[in-house]
Amino acid sequence: CGIVGYIGPREAGDLLVSGLRRLEYRGYDSAGVAVVNGALDVRKKEGKVDELAKLLDARPVSGTVGVGHTRWATHGPPNDVNAHPHEASDGSFAIIHNGIIENYGAIKKRLIEKGYTFESETDTEVLAHFIEDVQNEADLSFPEAVRQALTQVDGAYGIVGISRDDPDMLVVARNGSPLLLGIGDGEYFIGSDASPFIEYTRNVVYLSDGEMAVVRRDGYKVFQIDGAPVSKEVHALEWDLEEIEKGGYEHFMLKEIMEQPHSVADAMRGRVHPQEGQIRLGGLQKVLPQLVEAERIVICACGTSWHAGLAGEYLIEALARVPVEVEYASEFRYRNPVLTERDVVIVISQSGETADTLAAVRQAQGAGCLAVGLVNAVGSTIARETDAGVYLHAGPEIGVASTKAFTAQVAVLAQIALLLGAERGVLSQDEVRRHAEALAAIPAQIQTVLDGEEQIRRMARDYRYASNFLYLGRGANFPVALEGALKLKEISYIHAEGYPAAEMKHGPIALIDQFMPVVFIATRDATYEKVVSNIEEVAARGGTVIAITDEGNRDLDALAEYVVEVPKTIDALEPLLTVIPLQLLSYHIAVMRGADVDQPRNLAKSVTVE
Ligand code: G6P
Repeated sequence: CGIVGYIGPREAGDLLVSGLRRLEYRGYDSAGVAVVNGALDVRKKEGKVDELAKLLDARPVSGTVGVGHTRWATHGPPNDVNAHPHEASDGSFAIIHNGIIENYGAIKKRLIEKGYTFESETDTEVLAHFIEDVQNEADLSFPEAVRQALTQVDGAYGIVGISRDDPDMLVVARNGSPLLLGIGDGEYFIGSDASPFIEYTRNVVYLSDGEMAVVRRDGYKVFQIDGAPVSKEVHALEWDLEEIEKGGYEHFMLKEIMEQPHSVADAMRGRVHPQEGQIRLGGLQKVLPQLVEAERIVICACGTSWHAGLAGEYLIEALARVPVEVEYASEFRYRNPVLTERDVVIVISQSGETADTLAAVRQAQGAGCLAVGLVNAVGSTIARETDAGVYLHAGPEIGVASTKAFTAQVAVLAQIALLLGAERGVLSQDEVRRHAEALAAIPAQIQTVLDGEEQIRRMARDYRYASNFLYLGRGANFPVALEGALKLKEISYIHAEGYPAAEMKHGPIALIDQFMPVVFIATRDATYEKVVSNIEEVAARGGTVIAITDEGNRDLDALAEYVVEVPKTIDALEPLLTVIPLQLLSYHIAVMRGADVDQPRNLAKSVTVE
């Protein structure tokens, strides 16, 4: 969910709505605002922020203190009633909440026994009534009631509350869901990230888990939930407004796909030195000895970042000869994994806020392992909690389907693999130089692939009505097959599976008929001949083949309906090029099917609940 709050001289309503639009990537099944102005004015609506904006046009709010929320449903379906804010029974305060209150069932039962009634199915309404109950029992101020209630709550939350009776105040609390304060000139902002207020201020204070803040017109105080005051540093942000706008593209996803020559270059800037045959990663400097000595590397991530992790496994094992395991963070955290202090855990996350990935960091540190983060969002929770890390520098990624974060992640993993290969004496300086040169050439090669967009558009037109797709690849390109399938299903709702090409004959081959396009990633690397045999097997069964291969390869012309060429690079770096046509294919198919590319149904970009 996305959270925004404001206190200052401006009208809060418009500011909250424009903030929510920027946070919509975090959830978009309902939205609402509350503004204080003598009374509490609450407006909420099922659907996207646009629906809320229409409601506000018809029934405007006025006031200079307010909160706004865009929801990704956890408890109860998306509808007007379940939308946030939720109010106290007497309308004396309202809260918005991101996260899950785990013991809400028990609390709700107690409240019902005491006579409280509930309109919604949400855990947030339970929390609202619970705060109210705590407040009434001991005649507490609103911030104190929030504080005491939260000491009895289990779960993850980011909360902002406003009060009718103490109107010049925002009450903020965080435990497991991101929240930051924007410090303006005579005004303050709250956000799940800085995007809602970046044009007003670059100065931010990140709240940590277990912290609360009371923000008033003339200043703010941060303290722990147990009441102890905390002094916080003010950080200056780097991202600017332009970077979070579409810049002439129809969708964020297309903008982000097209940006990849730059974002991959940014992920290497100052780090890859081909002439010297050197990789320099400042963020890893202090932990380098431990990293080099690692007996094993465990990579944890979710979604697309997990696919990048798989590509990383291939890279690190091939170039540095360290055993690597790749784990879904959600599985890792509950499996009681066998870890020793000689293991290094690398977590990968675009947002730096994914709840399961964050839990993996804590699990690793609890077991005495070094936890290294590959994160895009600067200052995010994972970036702050890991022991060391490498920022991706891909710039803000807004489209829900991840694209430029993936290539930046793989580019950084390639640098780590090379660095470790060099430090461990696996690669000669000459080999490091050759690989660094190949890496440095990638941005221009990505541009070449992007220039071939027209062919992909034609392909999309031909296959847009398919109801199933299969993606097959081997070696370094197996993760690309998974990623290609994920991109397609996320945004076009076509069922797609990624599989190791040779494993196809143990199951998916049964699905093959002329209606199912089969996308082969078949570059001329170590397993090429075997993949060609798999292509023959599909063609022999009447399947429709699309092949991604390297420049100048004419072998597949007779077997495939479409052959997409990408420039030649070294095997382990191929994912950086072969994934590009698959991103474009899913994008164009989704657009042609009329799907909502940047905000596909049911998904959210940043999943801060388990
Ligand atoms: C969500 C997004 C995916 C993303 C995954 C992991 O499911 O929709 O695009 O890959 O979370 O997110 P992270 O921010 O940790 O990379």
